[in-house]
Formats: sequence, C-alpha cells, structure tokens
Amino acid sequence: MSQLKPYENHRDISSPNRNIAPITTEINENNQLVVGGCVISDLAKRYGTPLYILDEATIRASCKAYKSSLEKYYKGDSLPIYASKANSSLVISSIISSEGLGLDAVSEGELITALKGGLKGENIVLHGNNKSKHELQLAYNNKVKIIIDNYHDIEILKSIVPSEGTAAEVMLRFTPGIECHTHEYIRTGHLDSKFGFDPEELEKVLIDLKNYSFVRLIGLHAHIGSQIFELQPHIDLVGVMVEALKLARKLGHPVSDLNIGGGLGIKYINSDDPPSIENWIKVISEALNSSCSENNISLPRLMCEPGRSLVATSGITIYEIGSRKDIPGVRTYLSVDGGMSDNPRPITYQSEYSACLLDKPFSKTEEKVTIAGKHCESGDVLLKDFALPKSKSGDFLGVFGTGAYNFSMSSNYNRIPRPAAVIVSNGHAEIIQRRELSEDLLRYDLLPDRFITND
Ligand code: LLP
Repeated sequence: MSQLKPYENHRDISSPNRNIAPITTEINENNQLVVGGCVISDLAKRYGTPLYILDEATIRASCKAYKSSLEKYYKGDSLPIYASKANSSLVISSIISSEGLGLDAVSEGELITALKGGLKGENIVLHGNNKSKHELQLAYNNKVKIIIDNYHDIEILKSIVPSEGTAAEVMLRFTPGIECHTHEYIRTGHLDSKFGFDPEELEKVLIDLKNYSFVRLIGLHAHIGSQIFELQPHIDLVGVMVEALKLARKLGHPVSDLNIGGGLGIKYINSDDPPSIENWIKVISEALNSSCSENNISLPRLMCEPGRSLVATSGITIYEIGSRKDIPGVRTYLSVDGGMSDNPRPITYQSEYSACLLDKPFSKTEEKVTIAGKHCESGDVLLKDFALPKSKSGDFLGVFGTGAYNFSMSSNYNRIPRPAAVIVSNGHAEIIQRRELSEDLLRYDLLPDRFITND
C-alpha cells in the first residue's frame, strides 16, 4: 500500500487536523482508497450513496492529542471538551466519553445525545444565547454545568432551583474583545455579538451573581471564532481571561475553571496550514502558566472546546457521479447524488474541499470539472473547477474533511433524505446513522380532513 501523496504532503498522525485525509488512509494494490482498513468503494456499493464515512482512529488520535498536550504543557488540571455542534451522535459521544473528554451541548437534542452516549452530566457544559426553561431544567437535573450567557438565563435559573436545593454550577460567558475572521483578527472594546456578556457589563454581573444563592459561579468562558490558523488571538485571549478571573476571585467567586473555547483550524485544501493540536495547546498553556505566576494567582482548571479539529478530517462523503454537462469554453459540470443538503458549507461560506475518485485516487488528473449537487439551486456546487482524472457516470467520488459541520448542518432541502453514516475501524464498517427514506420525510406531515378528496 502506498501513501495518499497527492493529498498528503506531510501526514501528521499525531495531529489529524493537519491532514486532508483520515490518518488511516491508504491505497491498495488495486489503486483503491482504503480508510480504517475498509475499501471505501465497497462501502458505497454496500450502503449506497451519498454516504458519510467516519474514521474512528482519526477521532481518537485527535482526542488523545488534546489530552496528552494539556497534560504535557499545562501545570494545573485540565479538561478538553468536544463542541458537539460539529457532529452530534451517540457513537461520537461514546468515543468522546471513553477518551476522557467532556462535551459542549447547545440544545436539548445535543444534551440527550451526550447523556445517552455515556457522558456524565458533570463533564458536560450547556451553551446557548436563548436557552429554554426546559433545557435549563434538564441541565440542572443532570448536574450539567450551565454557561450563563445573559440575564435571561439567570432569571430562568432562579425559577428552577428550589429554595433549599443545591445551587446550579454555572460559568459565565463574556465577549473578550477579540474578533477572529479565520486569518485575521482584531481587538475591540465592544463586540457586535449575540453571545455572552459585553466586557463592560462583566463587573456588574459578577457583583449581581454574588447576591444569588441559586447559582455558584465556578468558571469563565470565552470563544473567539472558528477555523483559526493564528496562535496570537488565543494568547491574547488568555490575557483577557486572566484579568476577568482576577476580578471574579476578588469579588469572592470560587472560580476554578477557565474555558477558552475552540477554534483551531483544519486542512481542507493543500494550501491550508493550521497549527498542530500540540502547538495550539502549548502556546495557550504556557501563556496561562506564566500569566498566573506573574499575577500570583492559583492555576485554574484549563478547559478548551474544540469541535472541527476533533472530527473534521475523520470524515469523507461518498457520492456517485451521474450526469455530465460540457459547456465548451466555459465549464464542465459533473452532478452527484447529494449536495448542499448533506454539505451546506460551500454554498453558505464558499468553503473549499479536496476530493478524489475512490477507485483511482492516484491517477493523473486530466480535466477540470465542477462538481454540482442535485438541488434546485445554481449555487449548489461542492467543488469548483477541480482537477480530476477522466470519470464516467457511476464512478464514486470521495470528498474529504466532511466530519464536522456537515451532518450537523444538513437539511432536507428538496425533500432529499439525509445520507447514512458509517464508522470504520480495523477493517470493520458499522452503520451509526440510518439512511433517511423519502417516506420518513412525510412522518410529520398532516392532511386535515377537509383536504382529503374522495375522487
Ligand atoms: N465553543 C463555542 C462556544 C462555539 O460557538 C464553537 C463553534 C466551538 C466551541 C467550536 O469551534 P470549532 O473548534 O469547531 O472551531 N458552521 C461553521 C462553524 C460554526 C462554529 C460555531 N461555533 C462552519 O461550518 O464553518
């Protein structure tokens, strides 16, 4: 077996976010793509397409990289937690739990998926800028740590926690004045963000919280953005958070946790060069170690909340190529059997991806094609002007890096059912999400009697 060179200039097994393909990717003697010991085109034939594939080894290696780097570089306690908005399922929850990570949920759905997947409530945090009473009640009942985003959360908690009951353990989210747009960042006083308390409001809310016996403030939280390649914004974030930590402790809050959010980027295309997980953790840990020692304060438990960098590169989506349209001098469209309903990122963010033909991933590229989805929307394009070997209808195409924010953001646009998802490991493939059927999409439709015609 050879390496997947065209997509892998420097495969980094210890930091899967730095590779386009899953870490177990190989090419077999028949020049076929193999992941997790499974020939991927065989899975396409067995389970149908489109098909989400997740490589278990890649997810576990990413979890281990976060855990071991924190243990290596941070002098205090630590807990990496998985931002499950990236991809929420029972199996991923179970992997996260067995690797000793915690989890971030933002809805009842993500919360019950985490609990049923084996996570303990105390290792889960609940986020959200508009949590419902029901979500907060569920979190409180399960000892989930609640990230207070605004005064509305506080009001609802007041009505939930019994007067003689245990106070809810909460963390406070604030906007740190660091704004990140992937490759650029700015520092501002006020941020136009719907999430968290404005820095100007921080002192007031910390004082208010001292008067409320129904909550116990145990942590602070901030998150600056996603798919970030720079390290400096997070170093600056540590500085801002240590100031907030000092203030909270000065006001008498027993703050032990500092959650610096997620955001580490991944490699979608060859020119992407994100830092390794180890390096990201190293600079953050060192900044916090030294800031705490300079300020002469005890080290908090360091939490971080990666989503994309834990799961994205474990994923490949498999499509079958169908129709072809050549527009001479303009473009060649190859249409596949999925598109913006299973991967809304290209149409939403103009995100770029890498892909290959499953049964000739190494072959010389011969033409530039635009891979279009099957939805009724001209912008439903997954890859634009992408170089591929010659292909024909019925060939399978694999798109890499789809483990994060694909299934979790999928839709039924055009009443297209969601694909199945399969996890691969050591030559075994197991279904972890059943394929939706068109009939499933009718399950919640009702036809009141007056619409029923007899003829
Ligand atoms: N923590 C909080 C509070 C967040 O809002 C997020 C992501 C994360 C952690 C995880 O960030 P990550 O490590 O995945 O960068 N749908 C977009 C991404 C939205 C991210 C939202 N928040 C996309 O597909 O690119």
